[in-house]
Amino acid sequence: MRKNRLYRVLGLALLGFALGVALTQGQQELDPYKEAERQRELFRQTAGILPGELYAAQGEELFHAKRGPKQVSLEACDFGLGPGKLEGALTQLPRYFADTKRVEDLETRIVSCMVRLQGFKPEEVKRDEVKALVAYVASKSSEMPINVVPRTSQEIAMYNLGRELWYHRAGDRDMNCAICHEAYAGRKVRLSPVRSPRQGLSNEWPAYRFEADKLYTLQDRIAFCYESVGIHPPDYYSEPYIALSMYMLAEATRGKNRFTEMPGFTR
Ligand code: HEC
Repeated sequence: MRKNRLYRVLGLALLGFALGVALTQGQQELDPYKEAERQRELFRQTAGILPGELYAAQGEELFHAKRGPKQVSLEACDFGLGPGKLEGALTQLPRYFADTKRVEDLETRIVSCMVRLQGFKPEEVKRDEVKALVAYVASKSSEMPINVVPRTSQEIAMYNLGRELWYHRAGDRDMNCAICHEAYAGRKVRLSPVRSPRQGLSNEWPAYRFEADKLYTLQDRIAFCYESVGIHPPDYYSEPYIALSMYMLAEATRGKNRFTEMPGFTR
């Protein structure tokens, strides 16, 4: 289990966090939502299409193409609503899948379908392809209500692990994710208004981040939070991401939140 390492590295966040909060004092005001809206309009006017839509189009092509050693498409991939049913699929992920006997989020599920259906070896699965496929599948859940309710024992265990990781206090100064996203919820950390899971944290991913000029999945965004406070993030598709996503999205469900436009467009 990688949990111990995660706890240890969370401790390293203490100093970075303290510095980040201190540095925001006195900086000039900037509304990141208005700025994102302005950038989005610029893209619409100049390119006629949003970058997130380009990723989704690439994902759509990958989804329907016969690929891998078995030369089949991903059309038989079941995201929880039946083979090939994509409408609203993201709204109920992560969830337990009987075929892999695992709780999977969208990214992990795409990888397991590429492995099980198309015959790719896990190490052959390209991260950029997974991201484009995430954008495509997510685009079918645009603006829909989030509906993640842990029911099976495996889902409840995953939710509990996520909550444990979220609240686990580590290091000399007793830090955790909750300190930023709950104690500071509604306030600003590094110019960004921070939200709590009940306020819908995690409802805009996958999203195109114009400051980075890249598509970020939810796993990428969690990894970015780790990195921004000096923590080495866990490997993609590993349990801590699935657990934290399960926790955040189940809480977002309790707060009656919807997804934004999918893929999102944000700073
Ligand atoms: C140093 C404070 C800090 C810590 C610790 C921290 N975050 Fe964040 N997080 C932020 C800030 C600042 C943002 C950017 C908010 C924005 O731009 O909307 C953010 C953004 C996010 C987002 C995307 C924002 C959204 O609206 O969807 C997610 C998801 C997230 N954090 C999850 C986590 C998780 C999980 C942890 C613990 C493993 C964590 N964060 C720890 C400060 C923190």
